[in-house]
Amino acid sequence: MAQITKAVFPVAGLGTRFLPATKASPKEMLPIVDKPLIQYAVEEAAAAGITQMIFVTGRNKRAIEDHFDKNYELEAELEARGKQSLLEEVRRAIPSGITCIYLRQVDALGLGHAVLCARPVVGEEPFAVLLADDLIDAQPPVLQQMKELFLEARCSVLGVQRVAPADTGQYGIVKIDPGEGKARRIRGIVEKPPPGAAPSTLGVVGRYILTPRIFHHLEGLKPGAGGEIQLTDGIAALAREEPVMAFEFDGVRFDCGSKLGYLQATVAYGLKHGEVGQAFAGYLAGLASLRDVPGAVLARGRE
Ligand code: G1P
Repeated sequence: MAQITKAVFPVAGLGTRFLPATKASPKEMLPIVDKPLIQYAVEEAAAAGITQMIFVTGRNKRAIEDHFDKNYELEAELEARGKQSLLEEVRRAIPSGITCIYLRQVDALGLGHAVLCARPVVGEEPFAVLLADDLIDAQPPVLQQMKELFLEARCSVLGVQRVAPADTGQYGIVKIDPGEGKARRIRGIVEKPPPGAAPSTLGVVGRYILTPRIFHHLEGLKPGAGGEIQLTDGIAALAREEPVMAFEFDGVRFDCGSKLGYLQATVAYGLKHGEVGQAFAGYLAGLASLRDVPGAVLARGRE
């Protein structure tokens, strides 16, 4: 089986949880400190040796294409003003040696449908899928960890983490072989089961390496949870036919599709940021209580 050279980024979602910020700009362009979420995901893929980045886009997503393109005016302006380090930063947004390919998902029929849209470009090769709103801080990066397992096991690999029992309804939840170890064969997977019906508390968190056979299973799918064509249902069918591994990776995952996860990521990445980390840590440490935050009035919970 070939090496993995292609990654699919489903980026056609509406980002309703971040409205109005996402009214005219993609949720994948929301920054964590100074880099958009999609750039973290592309860098993770590039670090795992992936060279073809396939974006499955929709309306209002032009900013993603522009982000991974040259901006001549901006570069000329920065050069003229002698802002060399900013210029390099801007150029680094496109990792070297990668090609970006954009496809439109005309109808928003679900994640499984988005992945199926990439079939003509992926062809008959194993490939990765990254959901940019799952930001994962890990060393080595998660996709690299998963690639190592893939090269050994030569089968599809899902990145999973333990989730709170009350939260199973937010994830694809796997049923696995009993036993120890970080990588285990799945025996089933269900999309967003309520806590009482979940087969485990291992949730899929936005990183997949899939064999091309997945397309066959996605093609025949009927709408599942939420009335959408679910990637999870395609994987369930795939797992009945060939081995699929769930891999409990090492790393911290931030759910940047939720406001709270986004804020937590901002604090974590802010603290380790080369330029502002020290000052930000000092600022946080100087707050004896949250009431010391200038202008802060603690919100009351939703009633
Ligand atoms: C999607 C998948 C789900 C997975 C989750 C990870 O759900 O359908 O299986 O666990 O991403 O973030 P979404 O969060 O897009 O509703």
